[in-house]
Amino acid sequence: MPSDEDSMVVTPYEVKGDIDYDKLVKQFGAELIDAALLKRFEKHAGELHYLLRRGVYFSHRDMKWVFDELEKGNPFFLYNGRGPSGHTHIGHLTQFIFTKYMQDKFQVPFYFQLTDDEKFVHNFEMTLEQTNFFARENALDLIAMGFEPDKTHIIIDSEHAGTLYPLAIRVAKRITFSTVRATFGFTNSHNIGQIFYTSFQAVPSILHSVRVGRNVPCVIPLAIDQDAHFRVARDVLPKIGYFSPAILHSKFLPGLQQGGKMSASDPESAVFTVDPPKVIEKKLRNAFTGGRGNAAEQRKLGGNPDICSIFANYQLVFMPEDDKLGEIERRCRSGEMLCGECKGICIELATEYLTKHQERREEARDKIEDFLLKDP
Ligand code: TRP
Repeated sequence: MPSDEDSMVVTPYEVKGDIDYDKLVKQFGAELIDAALLKRFEKHAGELHYLLRRGVYFSHRDMKWVFDELEKGNPFFLYNGRGPSGHTHIGHLTQFIFTKYMQDKFQVPFYFQLTDDEKFVHNFEMTLEQTNFFARENALDLIAMGFEPDKTHIIIDSEHAGTLYPLAIRVAKRITFSTVRATFGFTNSHNIGQIFYTSFQAVPSILHSVRVGRNVPCVIPLAIDQDAHFRVARDVLPKIGYFSPAILHSKFLPGLQQGGKMSASDPESAVFTVDPPKVIEKKLRNAFTGGRGNAAEQRKLGGNPDICSIFANYQLVFMPEDDKLGEIERRCRSGEMLCGECKGICIELATEYLTKHQERREEARDKIEDFLLKDP
């Protein structure tokens, strides 16, 4: 009989079954973020980010080592990325917000990889021109968050191939087909672009070390489905003379419909940063909530924020203040507030936030060249 573990599949290219995070952490050989580690975060950063306080980032690899090195005077650099299969949504913003906090607090370099190559080889419907278009559009969202241009390096795979390729083949030489087949669930019908790609995703985790000519620890905040790439990379990189990158895992971000996660290729699953106010309103009005069958029942029994996509949007982006979020939760659970009112609050906050973001996003069009990695 298949166990739960067998039915739960979490790879960068497939997420299936009921997600049990404790099991996943064990299966992947990672570690839960515990109170002691949170203390070290707080001590060094001066404050604990709400995404850490709320357990959105919940698991890690080697962060104790990162803090040990930091205490010895050897700070880290940051790396993460995004597969440009469409416009940026709230889930991606969560990652940007957290990385921005890390850069602000630790004043470290940040490499951001836009994988137009990956999304091209994985999606038969998309042309390379389209994935490259979205790479540049997604870059605007990152820049709009206020990252520091002199410390932030945006990599677009198809455009920075000259810098990445000599490092990627050094990685690729150490990875067998049987490893990627087992790690990503590939079969004989996957194309060889897909098989090779993981070596490209490994490269930014050593790129800063290569550029400065000494080994620098790397910290990668990511959603846990991306872990597979770095399980492979962490095995290989020490064999070619580099540190394995440390990882901070976040949970999946629930989509606006029941049971799904936010997906850039499904416009109804999330609010996107380019959505105009009318679309934001429509999507949030139609969103799945933890409400009851009718108002009377909900007044009596209360709603359930644990399964509510509106509550998730507050938690992730629109309500960083714990006291405000606590009040929403209390009013929901007690039945004092119904979903209509709650959605109204969310629509107002989202519209205000995204209207500002959209202005900064347009201003970013002139700044993109300042942020693109300068090839050596
Ligand atoms: N493969 C990722 C995606 O599809 C993009 C990516 C590249 C990434 N490098 C990364 C994500 C590092 C997290 C961390 O979204």
